[in-house]
Amino acid sequence: MKPIIAPSMLSADFCNLAKDINLVNQSQADWFHLDIMDGMFVPNISYGLPVVKAIRTMAEKPLDVHLMIMDPGRYVSDFKKAGADLLTVHYEAVTHLHRVVWQIKSEDMLAGVALNPHTPVMLLDDIIQDLDMVLIMSVNPGFGGQKFIPNSLKKIDELADMIVRRNSNALIEVDGGVDDETAPLLVEAGADVLVSGNHIFKSADPAATIEALKAEYEEEEEVDDNDID
Ligand code: DX5
Ligand code: ZN
Repeated sequence: MKPIIAPSMLSADFCNLAKDINLVNQSQADWFHLDIMDGMFVPNISYGLPVVKAIRTMAEKPLDVHLMIMDPGRYVSDFKKAGADLLTVHYEAVTHLHRVVWQIKSEDMLAGVALNPHTPVMLLDDIIQDLDMVLIMSVNPGFGGQKFIPNSLKKIDELADMIVRRNSNALIEVDGGVDDETAPLLVEAGADVLVSGNHIFKSADPAATIEALKAEYEEEEEVDDNDID
């Protein structure tokens, strides 16, 4: 299988965003990953609705919007109007998660839930069937260019098991420190979507870096515990 590649525009050149949007348009990338930060949920402020709207006018691929904001239910309609196709909220930033997930779906967007590195996967057990995507944060959210947290691999593995057990269609997305070394491990653990910022945009040839991330990985063999010869 080939993973879905979502370049994070947080690492793009904001003085020349049009150039980097076109680069993603013409590359083998599948989605645009847009990071929205409010300076409360995370210790950083990125960009907001006007920038998402502007990217939408040029982007020829779906917008995967990652909200790192408190109480994100307040802005679901606004991000739909700005052009979001997938909207991901943080488990830790929402009180009534089920309500917000269905708010997103009722606006005709795909709904994702993100987990910080310290948040256990098992907390999604009663909502996994409602989700289109789960985002495993493999760094503490807030900044690009951080070091990958290896425990994320175990979480992806657990999540993949939960998705099968609960008969869910959720995709597994991973975000933070994804590069040519971590990508194969992540796909092997069960990741479907790789977000990558610094590794792509700080490389000499971002299109080639995207192409390398979108490699053909061997399917993991299903081991059936009951299948005893
Ligand atoms: C971090 C953001 C990420 C970030 C990833 O809070 O959610 O999307 O841009 O950047 P890299 O790939 O550089 O770790
Ligand atoms: Zn992100």
